[in-house]
Amino acid sequence: MLNQVRTNDWEQVFTNADFITFDPQLDPGWGLIQQGALAVQSGKIAWLGESANLPPIESSPEVIDLKGRLVSPGMVDCHTHLVFGGNRADEWAQRLEGASYQEIANAGGGILSTVRATRAATEEQLYQSAASRLKTLLASGITTVEIKSGYGLDLETELKMLRVIRSLGASLPVDVHATFLGAHALPPEFAERPDEYISMVCNEMLPAIGGLATAVDIFTESIAFNLPQTERVLRTAVDHGFQIKIHAEQLSHMGSAKLAAQLGAISADHLEYLDLPGIEAMAACGSVATLLPGSFYFLNETQRPPVADLRERHVPIALGSDMNPGSSPVMSPLLVANMACTLFGLTPVESVRGVTLNAARALRVAHQVGSLELGKLADLAVWDLSVPSELPYLIGHQPCTAVYKAGRRVA
Ligand code: NIG
Ligand code: FE
Repeated sequence: MLNQVRTNDWEQVFTNADFITFDPQLDPGWGLIQQGALAVQSGKIAWLGESANLPPIESSPEVIDLKGRLVSPGMVDCHTHLVFGGNRADEWAQRLEGASYQEIANAGGGILSTVRATRAATEEQLYQSAASRLKTLLASGITTVEIKSGYGLDLETELKMLRVIRSLGASLPVDVHATFLGAHALPPEFAERPDEYISMVCNEMLPAIGGLATAVDIFTESIAFNLPQTERVLRTAVDHGFQIKIHAEQLSHMGSAKLAAQLGAISADHLEYLDLPGIEAMAACGSVATLLPGSFYFLNETQRPPVADLRERHVPIALGSDMNPGSSPVMSPLLVANMACTLFGLTPVESVRGVTLNAARALRVAHQVGSLELGKLADLAVWDLSVPSELPYLIGHQPCTAVYKAGRRVA
């Protein structure tokens, strides 16, 4: 690929593998390099190409023979709620007996039941349960993850969650991006007074969480917050220098994706009820569409997100697990990709791009991760599979044999 290559600082060289690069300069699809090799220097990709073109190596890096396996970029989960107390298995049973997600929420269950459990949990308990889930994600190929607060709904518990999120990133070999979701639901103390709660989010919480979160999110829905409240939170967040994103158009059409895009949202997530003006605003403003097939599946939804229109208007489609105890107890990026194909009609290549490059775009970290290109981090997932489309095809199989973060083996 390069003529003048300095090989004497290489630390690792991965050989004997097929690489899914998603490098658009190779091809618009998988960007597959067969019989390839990849060299790492300072944790970044220093060389990538066909093994036959590997230059003579002057130093003695660690050579990792991948024995003909498939390698993808480390996967990115751009939407999770994986820090929480308790679980909602009972509520799921109620739903199976006919209660809807909205009915359970309106009766004080749903998100508020997890709020009670999260407030009652110690920081250590929250850390331990979330670390166990994060290790599951890591072992399934994830090297970058976004985690939201939002089960505290008071300053003390929101800060507790954000500190747990920070500890997860500091203690485990995964890049963790923290998002503040104080406006996730109306806490019982503020029943019938949503505008007062939103004032507290804007005036007390947002000024207090600087340094613990990079982005601010809100759940805009009939069972959560309305459009004017959303605008207040997102504008205040922008004023404080946060990136913004939104849970939008999940259960009904609100016009929330359009509003968020116009305010500069990096992504709008869920989007089952997204309409054309919303898509056009997202296209014009560069917002990524993050689809969450896990919650669509687990809530038994029927309204599908407008994939064809998103494609036509070139809005990048990312996929997240939405891992959470109520609507998406899903911890597998490959299952998310599979569901996106079967439920939403994504192609296999779109689905895997959704859990790698486009998920990195949704977090605004695609200059560092999400594809295998020179200068990006050597975050790699190694798969015991023969062709790329097998990744989203096999259900319930765990083909991930190794995970490397910045060139180092971490799982
Ligand atoms: O993304 N939609 C709102 N929030 C979560 C669900 C959280 C919960 O039910 O605990 C979601 O689906
Ligand atoms: Fe969510």
